[in-house]
Amino acid sequence: MNESQKIEEFWDNAFKGVAPMKLTHEDVKMGEPLESWIGEYGPSAQKIVDFGCGEGSVLLDAALICPASVCLGFDASGNAVAFAEGSAKKSGLKNVSFKVGRIEALRSLPSESVGLFICSNFLDVIPFKNALEYAIEIERLLEKGGHLILKVNFLIDEGIRKRIGGATNGKGEIHIGGVFRSNNRPDKDWIEAFKGLIFRKRAEFQRLPKGPFDRLFLFQKDDRE
Ligand SMILES: C[S@@+](CC[C@H](N)C(=O)[O-])C[C@H]1O[C@@H](n2cnc3c(N)ncnc32)[C@H](O)[C@@H]1O
Repeated sequence: MNESQKIEEFWDNAFKGVAPMKLTHEDVKMGEPLESWIGEYGPSAQKIVDFGCGEGSVLLDAALICPASVCLGFDASGNAVAFAEGSAKKSGLKNVSFKVGRIEALRSLPSESVGLFICSNFLDVIPFKNALEYAIEIERLLEKGGHLILKVNFLIDEGIRKRIGGATNGKGEIHIGGVFRSNNRPDKDWIEAFKGLIFRKRAEFQRLPKGPFDRLFLFQKDDRE
């Protein structure tokens, strides 16, 4: 099994055995400022794509905030997609669908066809060289003037690394139990990864009630020719 397959297997197991459920906006409402960013940049997008969507909460939230947008989620995990797709159906949401997909799924979409791209805690849980391949596709897919909301986990310092039992290698990457878990890059590397887009702003996002803050970045594709 190669590294990507091991990562996919880890996450697929994490989503095992969760039965789809009827969800309300309250159930999937994101914390601030992610909720406001979706509200600001989502409704004008005809198509919203969430890649590495997991069990789909962020995109289900977007589908509720943006009823006129077509929302499409991709993830390598069959278990995550089954939960997200089943929950969308049970919740009566008709503007959102989820598919099992890897980078080829993005490569098959037409250029400049996505108004809002969401990528939450995905690009930092795969090797950075792979993340850069996704960055190329995301830049290609965004419409002129379209937005990317990128969320990555908090930076793992030495104290956190030891607490979570992470092993580091010469490249600063973190493995736990032999599985790649974080490329652990500082902000400047994420801003540089999307150098074809305009970096608009950065914010902190409290995902864990008492934990360090995740990092949110907003990028926009230039709307000039
Ligand atoms: C940390 S979870 C994030 C899930 C969700 N976006 C969120 O914010 O809660 C990382 C997700 O990336 C997915 N993933 C890992 N490797 C992938 C790949 N090569 N292609 C697509 N999805 C992948 C996993 O299945 C998992 O759902």
